[in-house]
Amino acid sequence: MCGIVGYIGQKPALPILLEGLKKLEYRGYDSAGVAIIEAGAATVHKSVGRLSNLEQKMDANGSLKGGVIGIGHTRWATHGRPSDFNSHPHTDCTGKFVVIHNGIIENYIQLKEVLQQHGHVFKSQTDTEVIPHLIESYYKGDLVDAVRHVAKMLKGAYALAVMCQDEPDKIVAVKEASPLVIGLGDGENFLASDIPAILKHTRRVIALEEGQMAVLTKDKVTLTTVAGVPLEPKIINVTWDPGQAERGGYAHFMLKEIHEQPKAIRDTLSGRMAEDGSKIVLPELAGFSTDMVRNLHKVSIVACGTASHAGLVGRYLIEKLAGIPVEWDIASEYRYRDPMVDEHTLFVAVSQSGETADTLAAMREARRKGARVMSITNVVGSSIARESDWTVYTWAGPEIAVASTKAYTTQLVAVTLLAMWLGQENGRLDPEEGQAMFAGLRDLPAQAAAVLEQQEEPVKHMAMQIAHTEDVFFIGRNLDYAVSLEGQLKLKEISYIHAEAYAAGELKHGTLALITRGVPVIALNTQPDLLDKTISNIQEVKARDALVLGVAVEGDKDTEKHCEQVFYLPKTHKYLTPVLSVLPLQMLAYYAAIARGADVDKPRNLAKSVTVE
Ligand code: M6R
Repeated sequence: MCGIVGYIGQKPALPILLEGLKKLEYRGYDSAGVAIIEAGAATVHKSVGRLSNLEQKMDANGSLKGGVIGIGHTRWATHGRPSDFNSHPHTDCTGKFVVIHNGIIENYIQLKEVLQQHGHVFKSQTDTEVIPHLIESYYKGDLVDAVRHVAKMLKGAYALAVMCQDEPDKIVAVKEASPLVIGLGDGENFLASDIPAILKHTRRVIALEEGQMAVLTKDKVTLTTVAGVPLEPKIINVTWDPGQAERGGYAHFMLKEIHEQPKAIRDTLSGRMAEDGSKIVLPELAGFSTDMVRNLHKVSIVACGTASHAGLVGRYLIEKLAGIPVEWDIASEYRYRDPMVDEHTLFVAVSQSGETADTLAAMREARRKGARVMSITNVVGSSIARESDWTVYTWAGPEIAVASTKAYTTQLVAVTLLAMWLGQENGRLDPEEGQAMFAGLRDLPAQAAAVLEQQEEPVKHMAMQIAHTEDVFFIGRNLDYAVSLEGQLKLKEISYIHAEAYAAGELKHGTLALITRGVPVIALNTQPDLLDKTISNIQEVKARDALVLGVAVEGDKDTEKHCEQVFYLPKTHKYLTPVLSVLPLQMLAYYAAIARGADVDKPRNLAKSVTVE
């Protein structure tokens, strides 16, 4: 998500930090800041917007030219809108302790309440700011001890770098579920969230692992667990070129983002399930009262492209779990059908960028007609978020490839949480179903990682087989149909193979004429109540000599009898399968595009954010 850079050595830190942050610009950010210790004082500069704003601010200030220890950060807003105050570094009440952080502190609300009761004054809306205040509370003259103590109190995902103006000879870093690397120099050491930030200075790198802590001085890096057990660092020699380094060693951003999905799913779930497993917690829906939920006559989900496919999954789930009728519309069509909307309608816009013009226009129309307006978006402070009464954020981090992958799976998580929450509030969510889904949600990140690992090679092999065909069909029923839509879009947008998704039962109403010998048909069959029905549809295409590839759940031995090959998913709750079943389809699209020599990250004629109607 955000970018971290740190330096300790003998050279002026500021240019090294700024240059490092520039190397991380490709990740996307909305504000930036640096802190340097110079002449016994820690000075912080931050600015909303581009790094150039920060540089201008500092030039005007003319300070910080001599400090040889510092940390810098680019922020992608999560908790709190993009602003100077919410940018990092954050400080405690005294200004002695300076912290930069990537990730999400799940228990920050509880920690903040206690700190405020003890007189700590907060300057930002961020989760991060609890950290310097906690360090201030526990500091007894040893920064390493204080950070160790505080790290044990934090729940969630974090990569931290901390400095103390009274100990200007060290930077303390901790990693838990957010990337952090240490760069080793001669009389100097570096720290960064991504290798490109420090590649110019060193290729000798230590990639911190979960629960590890590093203390950097100019001459040494000491590695321990957070509990203090000494560790032998594993030094890697980075041989990547700078472009590869930006992609974390992956050939394309799309592939990197496909593999980031387990983390993105975990982050999006983070802090949204009560620890005792009793309910979904969506603090961002404060003010949306139980009465309001009970009085809803309908939900209207509106979006474009991939986001609309996630919205369709939302439609099925809200109807199943909360028993509220749901309309689902493509945003560019919505206004032109004169939708019937009033104050008993909950309008939900789904948009990764939060800037899609059609979605924004549809949202304005719904508001004009009196709907309550909610959004699901990935970009804090985006137009769609600003114009919504409530926003449920996906924590996918910046998505750079034009083809959405991690934005989609996190949108699936968000619509699932919303459906469960609505069902909880109106009392229609069956408690047993709720519990089963809860357990399933907890397992999802690990299961997604397992699918990516186990299916990548078989999918690659299959991609070679379909890469040179002209048409591919995707079929499925119900939730599987919704995922089929996303599978076909992924394939055609990056590989330029013509692809179409059909509700499996619809094929015989005309489309079967297009199924001839060898035409690939990808059949999703993950819904236990519909297995046999979909198998009948598979048989229809099989009878026309189609090449059938299945996506099914472990334990289903029937689907494979009718398929050339089946990609198996681990068992999960039937309503959670979309998050897993889309993964082989994303990889199939990716590897088919590679086999055809297409420019995966920048498909022709497509833009990442479509801000014209
Ligand atoms: O930013 P949005 O989610 O509103 O964008 C909507 C579509 O343009 C987008 O989902 C598009 O279909 C995907 N990039 C395709 O992979």
